[in-house]
Amino acid sequence: MRKFNVTLVGGGSTWTPGLLQTLCKLKERFPVNKLVLFDINEERQSVIGEFAKVLFKEEYPELDFKYTTKVEEAYNDVDFVFMQMRTGGYAMREKDEKIPLSMGLIGQETCGAGGFAYGLRSIRDMIKTINDIRTYSKDAWILNYTNPAAIVAEALRREFPEDKRILNICDQPVNLLRSYGRILGRESKSFEPVYFGLNHFGWFTHLYDEEGKDLVPELKKLIHEKGFLPVDAEQRDKSWLDTYGMVQDICEDFSEYLPNTYLQYYLYPQYKGAKLNPNYTRANEVMDGREKRVFEECRKVAEEGTVKNCKMVHNDAHSEFMIQVAESIAYNQGKIFIVIVENNGTISNIQDDAMVEVAAILTANGPRPLSVGKIGVFHKGLIESQLAYEKLTVDAYYEGSYEKALQALTLNRTIVDAKKARKVLDKLIEANKEYWPNFK
Ligand code: NAD
Ligand code: G6P
Ligand code: MN
Repeated sequence: MRKFNVTLVGGGSTWTPGLLQTLCKLKERFPVNKLVLFDINEERQSVIGEFAKVLFKEEYPELDFKYTTKVEEAYNDVDFVFMQMRTGGYAMREKDEKIPLSMGLIGQETCGAGGFAYGLRSIRDMIKTINDIRTYSKDAWILNYTNPAAIVAEALRREFPEDKRILNICDQPVNLLRSYGRILGRESKSFEPVYFGLNHFGWFTHLYDEEGKDLVPELKKLIHEKGFLPVDAEQRDKSWLDTYGMVQDICEDFSEYLPNTYLQYYLYPQYKGAKLNPNYTRANEVMDGREKRVFEECRKVAEEGTVKNCKMVHNDAHSEFMIQVAESIAYNQGKIFIVIVENNGTISNIQDDAMVEVAAILTANGPRPLSVGKIGVFHKGLIESQLAYEKLTVDAYYEGSYEKALQALTLNRTIVDAKKARKVLDKLIEANKEYWPNFK
């Protein structure tokens, strides 16, 4: 069985220990020869890197492992690069959330004005990193989680039009599939989804089981009766439980399909905006929760020199999804995953050059999307205005255009009012001076 060399960019991410544990768990299925963790933050990288040394000594002794902050050590002779970086860190995520909320607008990592701000920060670093990767490894598969994935995917489509080995992915559809499994009381592994939309902006139309039965009608009934919980509800913070709970509200109003959770921000911007606490946002919850836990636990494992007492148990969709996507490409398995691809007729009445999120067969030649066909007026209208927002955001980046930025924010359903769009844009420009292009 062929073994692969993998580099993880954002090696100091809070999600990295889980990914490393899952690499151990899945080592028979996706065996790794060499693994490099790369981060620009030496402190974060070394805490997680030292944890990894202990973990691998006990669970993956044959693995050639190192961590680094040097580009030339990270990208030489790599088969797969997994990316999960956060330009500006949680400090900037906090601003993305709090600045819009201070004006009564949705403040969220990837949606609305916050996602816009984060997008304009991510693009530059993502382009630089992919150029670095391609200097050393021309053919490596680049699997990207870095958010906001919709904006990043559109920018990479423009920047690297000939590069067919960049694939943007999101774990939220898998989180939803697993949660459907919980509500149905069955394993979600065998579900075959039909899904369409943009990243964090899509719907499941069908969900077939092994016998070809569509489970969506039963799911709708169960969601109506019981509400909706994430598969890992017991481990979730309150804000995520509220978010999953909103699926029931969306289904009551729009009963056709099962929505992605992120649609709550676009369908109920005022209601949801009023429920978010402008003084304590998701960034605070993560800094006080996951980030603290992960770094404390990693330090403890490194000190003790063993993972035997390690309390981090990762069974999240995030890490398994990334590795299974790599596995399907690596061994030409042709499994079906929901991924982000250029539309080119997959949704037949949406423009070709949209980066859409749909189910695709994944082989060594990349994703082959499964046709969705024509979508209805409501969903088409929603998607097209969100798509225009995404494209104008990327235009604003490339052209350094204030007006394009203002157009983008005005089109975003979480904002709508152009005077509010201008006000939030001006505040975000001030907060992002170090990261954004100069708008004229
Ligand atoms: P985090 O801040 O804990 O980790 C990000 C790491 O990236 C940090 O250690 C940081 O130093 C590093 N970094 C920043 N800029 C870098 C650069 N230019 N090169 C290399 N490393 C760099 O954040 P997190 O919450 O663990 O999330 C990491 C990323 O994964 C975020 O972009 C997040 O939105 C994304 N994510 C995406 C999905 C998805 O569905 N697509 C799911 C989960 C997380
Ligand atoms: C889901 C989404 C990701 C997002 C993450 C945020 O997994 O698909 O795109 O980054 O949630 O999680 P957090 O716990 O950091 O709020
Ligand atoms: Mn996502």
